[in-house]
Amino acid sequence: MPDMMEIDALGNLRRTHYCNALRASDAGKEVVLMGWVQRRRDHGGVIFIDLRDREGITQVVFNPDVDTAVHQKAHVLRSEFVIAVRGRVDRRPEGMTNSVLETGEIEVLVFELRILNRSSAPPFLIEDDVDVSEMIRLKYRHIDLRRSRLQKNILARHKASAAVRDFLNRNGFIDIETPFLTRSTPEGARDYIVPSRMNPGQFYALPQSPQLFKQLLMISGFDRYYQIVRCFRDEDLRADRQPEFTQIDMEMSFIGEDDIIKISEKMVSEIFHAVLGKVVPTPLPRITYAEALDRFGLDRPDTRFALELCNVSDILSKSNFNLFSNAVKQGGIVKALNAKRCGGFSRKEIDDLTEFVKIYRAKGLAWIKIKENEWQSPIAKYFSEEEKALLIRRLDLAPGDLVFFVADQSAVANESMGNLRNLLGKKLGLIDESQLHFVWVTHFPLLEYDETEKRFKALHHPFTAPLEEDIVLLDTDPLSVRSRAYDLVLNGYEIGGGSIRNHQRKFQEKLFHVLGLPPEDYEEKFGFLLSALDSGAPPHGGIAFGFDRLVMLLCKETSIRDVIAFPKTQKASCLLTNAPSDVGKKQLEELFLKIKRR
Ligand code: AMO
Ligand code: AMP
Repeated sequence: MPDMMEIDALGNLRRTHYCNALRASDAGKEVVLMGWVQRRRDHGGVIFIDLRDREGITQVVFNPDVDTAVHQKAHVLRSEFVIAVRGRVDRRPEGMTNSVLETGEIEVLVFELRILNRSSAPPFLIEDDVDVSEMIRLKYRHIDLRRSRLQKNILARHKASAAVRDFLNRNGFIDIETPFLTRSTPEGARDYIVPSRMNPGQFYALPQSPQLFKQLLMISGFDRYYQIVRCFRDEDLRADRQPEFTQIDMEMSFIGEDDIIKISEKMVSEIFHAVLGKVVPTPLPRITYAEALDRFGLDRPDTRFALELCNVSDILSKSNFNLFSNAVKQGGIVKALNAKRCGGFSRKEIDDLTEFVKIYRAKGLAWIKIKENEWQSPIAKYFSEEEKALLIRRLDLAPGDLVFFVADQSAVANESMGNLRNLLGKKLGLIDESQLHFVWVTHFPLLEYDETEKRFKALHHPFTAPLEEDIVLLDTDPLSVRSRAYDLVLNGYEIGGGSIRNHQRKFQEKLFHVLGLPPEDYEEKFGFLLSALDSGAPPHGGIAFGFDRLVMLLCKETSIRDVIAFPKTQKASCLLTNAPSDVGKKQLEELFLKIKRR
């Protein structure tokens, strides 16, 4: 019985091969394999074990006719026991080969078995399509990570980071570490803060990114910096967001946008080549933020499929359908999307899509089914013949089509229709999952208006430089000022973003002023940066890639949790270690903290 079972010592036995290394040409070799029992089958006296290690699986065989004692010992083996076997590689008999396994043409006939450790019954099977909730998988992450899919992902992540380091080292970038215990740098999310025992009542912030430090390094003369670095943001989590995530962070001096874009393209194409053997054709396409919003509704367009949006505000600005004409009168827009040949959608399907756009604050979703002789729709009756003719032309309407409209302020109309477009792309099977569609989005607005705080905010971060020709508008029309920021988008995901920075103190101060920060405020928060900018700061700029997102896309996963060894849940907790957790009274007292229970 396993309870009474003795555990063998490893002794002087050493592995000769990983489990997927053996092929028919190895027949006759004596080998030593070590790993975990994936599966045990007892076939009329002969015991077959699928032995698993990080590289794959080999079938090992215990035959009573070869060695009775070893065969007898193999009876106690159960799933996830750790064993070492010494044996001989044999070709499998005719008809017994397994084409699914890379090692399916061979098996190892065992002479010696060492049981290195037992295992309690695993909470789920170590299989790729394991049918168990993610909560359970995360609780037993060390076991979940044994599954080949996750092993492959983690290995791909390693290959990607090795390719990044190799590329950047070759191109003169210097890897420099920056502090984790630092002060808050505004990146738009909430900070994680750490109390200081030495300085009662004071807190560090964990960095949302090394933004200010990398700029300071440029001022120190390091010229080309990089770091594969953890960043911390206390934000609402989604499938592509974690509270701690990794950036490939870069900064360069004496450069412009094109230099950063070019070096980034080379790096990204080397990563894809190193991990997938795929060639990414460069230069990558670029579109402006304005064009991205106009055509796709989002600043991270999925360009793998067409189904583009259309602004029809001009056609409907005087429409008898007041919802539309009023929206335009109030400075909003009417955005339309022709879902070609979707005229057969049911009422339920349309209702579901209406609920979907409401997630993005749209007030409703108007629709028209284009029939041979009529337009079937709750709103078609309001349209004049002229408006209809213009819509037919603009939207390329044909019988069988289904058109959707959202009328609202442009931010809402674009975001809701952009997400509707993505949803329809999936629903209609328009997306070729084997494609990689990169696009640079450029010329972002420098500022946005925050309705709740009633002030301007930096769209990227406050250190981003405005486009030179737009600087004159900073005082008169701040919202129309474009910035020198750029994002790299892959298949609808923002995988990286950066900008050229303000390297002159007077510009940075001007920007703080436009952002409504009084001098005493920005001096207190950013005095060190301003003084550094005043001490010979070279022109500089940079970019940071979301490394987890990049690896997720390399691995064809849909959640970054599947490419992070120990990720957190949507509630930012680690189910394996049960972090976050309470701390003792003594620890709190040392930090001069008191918990207010709700
Ligand atoms: P930004 O805030 O755009 O820029 O971040 C850069 C990239 O990091 C990824 N990312 C995330 N990935 C996973 N989980 C998150 N919570 C998360 N948040 C962001 C995205 C994003 O494109 N300092 C600037 C860069 C610069 O200006 O050089 C910055 O951090 O893929
Ligand atoms: P109602 O007049 O409220 O019954 O709306 C008529 C149709 O217009 C319904 O299909 C609504 O979903 C849709 N609708 C309502 N508000 C908007 C809006 N802001 N943009 C587009 N369609 C809307």
